[in-house]
Amino acid sequence: MNVTIIGTGYVGLCTGAVLAEIGHTVRCIDNDEAKIAMLKEGRSPIYEPGLQELIDKHAPAGALAFETDIATGMTDAQVVIIAVSTPRSDTGEANLVYVENVSEQIAKNLAGYTVIVEKSTVPVRTGERVKQVIERNSTGDHPFDVVSNPEFLREGHAITDTMKADRIVVGVESERAAQVMRELYAPILEESGAAWIVTDIPTAETIKHASNSFLAMKISYINAIANICERCGADVRKVAEGMGLDNRIGPGFLDAGVGYGGSCFPKDVDAFIHIAGELGYDFKLLEAVREINEAQRGLFVAKIKDVLWNLEGKRIAVWGLTYKPNTDDMRNAPSIGIIEELVAGGAQVIAYDPKGMDKAKQVLPEAVEYAADAMSALDGADCLALVTEWDEFVTADLAKAKERMHFPLIADGRNLFEKSEVEALGFTYRGVGV
Ligand SMILES: NC(=O)c1ccc[n+]([C@@H]2O[C@H](COP(=O)([O-])OP(=O)(O)OC[C@H]3O[C@@H](n4cnc5c(N)ncnc54)[C@H](O)[C@@H]3O)[C@@H](O)[C@H]2O)c1
Repeated sequence: MNVTIIGTGYVGLCTGAVLAEIGHTVRCIDNDEAKIAMLKEGRSPIYEPGLQELIDKHAPAGALAFETDIATGMTDAQVVIIAVSTPRSDTGEANLVYVENVSEQIAKNLAGYTVIVEKSTVPVRTGERVKQVIERNSTGDHPFDVVSNPEFLREGHAITDTMKADRIVVGVESERAAQVMRELYAPILEESGAAWIVTDIPTAETIKHASNSFLAMKISYINAIANICERCGADVRKVAEGMGLDNRIGPGFLDAGVGYGGSCFPKDVDAFIHIAGELGYDFKLLEAVREINEAQRGLFVAKIKDVLWNLEGKRIAVWGLTYKPNTDDMRNAPSIGIIEELVAGGAQVIAYDPKGMDKAKQVLPEAVEYAADAMSALDGADCLALVTEWDEFVTADLAKAKERMHFPLIADGRNLFEKSEVEALGFTYRGVGV
């Protein structure tokens, strides 16, 4: 099939690469000229495991092409996927201006029957709006269907999550659109055994917001439990293990830490609270989820201060900056709030991240220094603050690390290290709920 994807970010580019891999002819469009220029040279603008390999494989043969112009990019498209950003606005609601803009342009370039897929995460009822905009701006009598096909990929696993999806949700208004979507995903459905869930459009839109908010709620729940564990001497990791073995609860998203970040959970929780309010429902549960999450970063800094007393003049090595491992994405990373607070307190921060340093330099305070590797970040440090649990930190030689530090404190924001083991090496250890 000929597929056009508008918005070539984490979702659009990874989806495009996978759709090319399963045999479609894909054109990825973005209005960011620098991004498209880079892709035309065969280079991925983002880090995602396996992505560059798929670009190398499919771009030279033309199965995966890149454009800035929607009109050119939509020629002969049977499916047009909207994957533009839907950022948080000042009021917390999703900013849908990009979705509206591209919908207008799609309308002006329709030819034969086209399925227009809403893949960006949007509040319920956006499908109605997209349909309205397309009807108002279409220049001829071109048949189309709008479909909601929410995306569930995880950054850091985007390619494998798309190839081996656990479920594919399509919200449709016609059997014809459902058939096109099934054909689009047929190789994935056959290979991965993904559940195929067909609903109406509002239900599909709600599945996405409800899923992300539920996962955010699990994280805030275990963080609240961690705060209780710290007060009563219980170990939150064992509590989580004991809870997670109950198959009604499940083990995922029960890791206590410095809270969730990223481009999705914070904005999707806010957007869900907002749309619920518009629909007349006061979503207090999610407000508490958000509050717990926001407090977690300050509690982490407080632990460092509790050991070091004043931050002024202290040297703090921060390991891990991205909002989670295996990505270079810094959007709403917990490291940002933590480092801002450390710097505001007068600490000298020296940071290291395996993949996120370029993007970190654009968002962290200017005073932050960057180390070439994890070990050199520790030279003369009064504290190692572990913020993102990259694999290379798991295997770090902590005995050697201690020799380089001025004072051996580990503040472990992800419970990555074993408390008894690091204490045996002579470290003072502060985890989350342990
Ligand atoms: N990143 C994730 O893990 C993830 C997972 C599931 C769903 N989502 C959702 O998918 C959507 C995209 O997320 P992302 O992380 O890929 O965002 P992104 O910011 O990485 O990419 C969005 C792209 O859209 C482009 N764009 C914006 N307006 C445009 C326009 N008018 N014409 C052409 N291109 C335009 C931007 O330049 C950008 O490259 C969001 O709604 C997000 O909530 C993201």
